[in-house]
Amino acid sequence: MNILVTGGAGYIGSHTCIALLEAGHKIIVADNLCNSKAETVDKIKQITNKEVTFYQIDVTDEKALDYVFSNHSIDGVIHFAGLKSVGESVEKPLEYYYNNLVATMVLCKACRNYGVKKFVFSSSATVYGDNRVPFEEAMKLLPTTNPYGETKTMIERILTDIAKVSQDWSVALLRYFNPVGAHESGLIGEAPNGVPNNLMPYITKVAKGELEKLYIFGDDYPTVDGTGVRDYIHVMDIAEGHVAALDKLTSGVHIYNLGTGEGTSVLQLVKTFEEVNNIEIPYEIVERRTGDIAICYADTSKAKKELGWTTKRGIVEMCRDSWAFKTNYKG
Ligand code: NAD
Ligand code: WQD
Repeated sequence: MNILVTGGAGYIGSHTCIALLEAGHKIIVADNLCNSKAETVDKIKQITNKEVTFYQIDVTDEKALDYVFSNHSIDGVIHFAGLKSVGESVEKPLEYYYNNLVATMVLCKACRNYGVKKFVFSSSATVYGDNRVPFEEAMKLLPTTNPYGETKTMIERILTDIAKVSQDWSVALLRYFNPVGAHESGLIGEAPNGVPNNLMPYITKVAKGELEKLYIFGDDYPTVDGTGVRDYIHVMDIAEGHVAALDKLTSGVHIYNLGTGEGTSVLQLVKTFEEVNNIEIPYEIVERRTGDIAICYADTSKAKKELGWTTKRGIVEMCRDSWAFKTNYKG
């Protein structure tokens, strides 16, 4: 299939481009590079030895997107393009609602105009809010405490409403848990600017000596060691989950958790990173971070049953590959 990948130069998008190309699909990447670099597209070509068509465009730009659709016979879209920082979304709610919602609606209009009926969307486990674990797809969604999370809930709703009246549309809402790790080549991975918000990029910056120590947000949660528990998932497993979803997509709206089903605490992740990479990570326990939940992990049975997809990599691989990318990366 010819797949349009919006946000394909970004962290999860670039890994998914590799999985798509390796599965025999052709890809067209549309990204405005607001949080990524053009060289990532070259790395995708280098890793796969395949062609990638790249458009540096903003997906909110109707004319620019129309040009892309008119130039290619697109069979389906995977929509990664969006702003994703929880903290920044609290500071800049208008930018987040505008970018994430308008990009999705402009993309849906182009799909309708050009008869593209397969749509895969990057949603997030954040839409479950503080539900009981494990999170199941059928659960009632709860408030997410930040504009970023609300854009995910709203976009899921928009796509569901569109699919209700356009019954030949096939929509997959993929709820990612905590993507970490990097492609096994060490050539692409996650490289946030400045001080990272997320745990793994923070750990690799401490490991490289770019930050002095890790601040662990709370050790009084009702968990195995008091620190927060998350379902970390290797980004290549997430990438392969998209290929599985695309291949199995049938009409209607299908929601899948992309997680491992295993919870890991902050301290467990830090210890594993230290052991796997033989590097000490100094840390200090500080106050809980506002908006954090104690435990988050997926029920993965639906994706396994319906997509035949399960994760192949564990936290050892996640720690190894995150560090390999970090040591390689010059940026
Ligand atoms: P990322 O920032 O690395 O990738 C997003 C890409 O979209 C970037 O390359 C950025 O330049 C591009 N982009 C943003 N707005 C755009 C626009 N209007 N037009 C064109 N391009 C635009 O983030 P990521 O971690 O790869 O996340 C990809 C998607 O997955 C996002 O929608 C994010 O919300 C979602 N998601 C991420 C996580 C996570 O923890 N990383 C978890 C759940 C869901
Ligand atoms: C993981 C654990 C922290 C940093 C976020 C978004 C979510 C999704 C994935 C997009 C928590 C602890 C972290 C640090 C720490 N993104 N921590 N010190 O918060 O589970 O999820 O990314 O959809 O929407 O909210 O991920 O990596 O920030 O935190 O102790 O410096 O690590 O408290 O327990 P989170 P995270």
